[in-house]
Amino acid sequence: MLRAPAAVYYGQGARASIGTAAASLGRRALVVVDPFLAKTPEFREALSGLDGAGVAVQIFSGVVPELPTDSVTAAAESARGFAPDVVVAYGGGSALDLGKLIALLLSCDGPLSDYYGENRVPHPVLPIVAVPTTAGTGSEATPVAVVSDPDRELKVGVSDPALIPRVAIVDPDLTIGAPPSVTAYSGIDAIVHCAESYTAGKRRPDWETRLPVFVGRNRMSSLLALEGLAAMGDALPLAVADGSNVEARGRMAWGSLLGGMAFGSGGTHLSHALQYPIGALTHTPHGMGTGMMLPYVLQACIETTTDRLAQIAGALGVATDRSERDDAQAAIDRLDEIGIAIGLPRTLAEIGLTRQQIPRVAELAAGVTRLVALADHEVTPAFLERILDAAFVGDRSRLTDTSTNG
Ligand SMILES: NC(=O)c1ccc[n+]([C@@H]2O[C@H](COP(=O)([O-])OP(=O)(O)OC[C@H]3O[C@@H](n4cnc5c(N)ncnc54)[C@H](O)[C@@H]3O)[C@@H](O)[C@H]2O)c1
Ligand SMILES: [Fe+2]
Repeated sequence: MLRAPAAVYYGQGARASIGTAAASLGRRALVVVDPFLAKTPEFREALSGLDGAGVAVQIFSGVVPELPTDSVTAAAESARGFAPDVVVAYGGGSALDLGKLIALLLSCDGPLSDYYGENRVPHPVLPIVAVPTTAGTGSEATPVAVVSDPDRELKVGVSDPALIPRVAIVDPDLTIGAPPSVTAYSGIDAIVHCAESYTAGKRRPDWETRLPVFVGRNRMSSLLALEGLAAMGDALPLAVADGSNVEARGRMAWGSLLGGMAFGSGGTHLSHALQYPIGALTHTPHGMGTGMMLPYVLQACIETTTDRLAQIAGALGVATDRSERDDAQAAIDRLDEIGIAIGLPRTLAEIGLTRQQIPRVAELAAGVTRLVALADHEVTPAFLERILDAAFVGDRSRLTDTSTNG
């Protein structure tokens, strides 16, 4: 199963196609841009490309971090008078998600909360050209946009194939300026997207009804996820250590695009379900939480996903010449090492979670049923608590026997 943009342009210099891509979809472009990037020469170049292609432009550069819902609604209202027929979203995941949500609100009546959850968007939305400057959320290729709703304890998502950008323009050079922490957290999240879609459970689709947005592991998502991991495994520490390493930036941009396409149909699972409450309680970035949880989640699921983890070891270049089980362990160890190399905190205690909060985090994560259902393991709050207990003190060996202990 593949859900993806109608066109994907990847490569150094691909940003030169922004004008023609937008012109192929409309004459009036609302350009949504990260406030920092709005001042860069590359963005001005993109604007002249739009002008050269005869596209009228209105710029919205007021992206508010974490996308509080009222900021999204206000952004859409400010654009309504311009009546755009295409949205160009340029920036990190926040700018891309805002572009998707503005396209939604200008095409369907609000409030935004009507569309929370999966498959709630009633008809196509304005076409979107997505240009990522981080590597990344993969948002340029996914059916997802994430917002913070002050009425909800956790961040909420709108997930619908209607939100998949029509054109993704992925130019790794645009990520060169991303600072080390943004590179680290968005980069490890891209690795988690690949690892989780590759280890998600397989579900038998009911072809006669509308398919869920995330259908579980499948042949197409597996292909993309493994290729993404092969591209990114060694590249992420290099890109964090030296942001001007063009080859590492290229591999990260490529891998995160593939990760977006992989999880856009396959889905993610427990690292993401656990990050939602962890992020809300500790106010830490999405990728920090998913990246920290991944080795613990995979360790807890090693018995039911050994074959896939062994394949991941191959993609990461750490396969042993011993057993499949040894390869699976080597994959988890390597993913943990990558986290250390990029400076992820080592324990949940370090990021400010308290031991007393663990049962509540487990309960909230267990309630993220669309993600939990995709794990290839039976999931109870007790199972999640064990994962959290191990991550709280930074000791994966506590999880070695989880599958036999229930
Ligand atoms: N839609 C999806 O499929 C999806 C998937 C995962 C995460 N997300 C969401 O994406 C958001 C995170 O996105 P992100 O990690 O890309 O970060 P971001 O968009 O929030 O940007 C983080 C910071 O990096 C800066 N920045 C971005 N690119 C830069 C560059 N090239 N040079 C210099 N500075 C740069 C921005 O100005 C900003 O200050 C979260 O809200 C998360 O929930 C969405
Ligand atoms: Fe993610």
